Amino acid sequence: MTLRIEPFGSGSGRLVHREGPDDILQLPADEITALFKSAGLVIFRGFTTSPQVMHDFAGRFSTRFNRDRLRPVVAGSDGYVQMVTEGMGYVEPHAEQANSPFRPDALWFCCSVPAAEGGETLAWDGVRLWEKLRPELKQLFRNKKLRFFQRYSNDKWQRFMGNGATLADVQTTLDGIEGVSYYVSPDDSIYLEYVCPAVVKTRYGGQDAFANSLLSERKNTLGDLMSFDDGSAISDDIVSEVQEAMKELEDAIAWHPGDLAFIDNSRYLHGRNAYTDTRRKIFSSLSFLNF
Ligand SMILES: [Fe+2]
Repeated sequence: MTLRIEPFGSGSGRLVHREGPDDILQLPADEITALFKSAGLVIFRGFTTSPQVMHDFAGRFSTRFNRDRLRPVVAGSDGYVQMVTEGMGYVEPHAEQANSPFRPDALWFCCSVPAAEGGETLAWDGVRLWEKLRPELKQLFRNKKLRFFQRYSNDKWQRFMGNGATLADVQTTLDGIEGVSYYVSPDDSIYLEYVCPAVVKTRYGGQDAFANSLLSERKNTLGDLMSFDDGSAISDDIVSEVQEAMKELEDAIAWHPGDLAFIDNSRYLHGRNAYTDTRRKIFSSLSFLNF
C-alpha cells in the first residue's frame, strides 16, 4: 500500500488521505515512520478514529506514554489518552513539557468533534523558525540556556511518575537529570528549577530547532521567575522578535472529524486558536518513540 500524501502548511508537514480501508491500523508502519522522520508533523484524514484507536495506533510507534499534568484522562485508556480541555482561549506556542525534564518525543491528537468556529491546533516548524532568527539572537540563544521554575503539588508529580510513586522515587529520578535542581516542601510539593537550551537537535536528522516552552511559560505560574541561566532577563523585545519570526510559519490544523495528528516534539511547536463551541472534542496522548 502506498500513502496518498500532500504537503501541509509552510514547513515540512504532510497530510495523509485515506485511499483504502478506513482502519488506520492497517497503514504500513514502515512508511509512516519514514514519512514522520522527514515531515515532523503528519495528519491522517478520512479514517475512523477514537481515543482507543489513537492509543492503539500510537502504541505501535511508542515505547511508553506520558501524561499531561493538567488534563483529565479518558476512561479505559490506562490514563494515557486525555481530553484537551484546559480553557477555550488562545494557547501560546510551545513544545510539550519542554519546561521540564519529562519532555515527550511525540504528541498525538485526534478529533471527535471540531469546533464550529476557531479551535484550530496551531503548529510551527522549529527548524524553519531557527533559520529565520537574526544571527545576533541565535548567538544569544546559543550562549545562554533557559531557566524555568515550576511547582508540582503531590498529586501532580504523581501523574508524571506514575501511580504509586513515592517521594524517594521522584528524588532518585530527579537526582540523575542534568539541568535539574529542586527543593521538597514540607507538604511534599516540589519546586523544580530546570535549565535547558532554547535550541535543540531534532530527533531525526539532528537539525537545530527552536522548539521550547519560552512563550507559553511566561504566562504560567512562576513564569515571572523565568530567565536565562545566568539570571539575566529574557526581555520583551527578545520575545517580540521571536513572535514576529513565527508569524509566517504558523500552520493551522482545521480539524475534520476523525483527523489524527502525529507531531515530533523535538521539532514542532504547537498551540491553539481560541474557540467558544462547547461541543469541541479533541483527545491527546504524549509518548516516547520506538524508532
Ligand atoms: Fe501542548
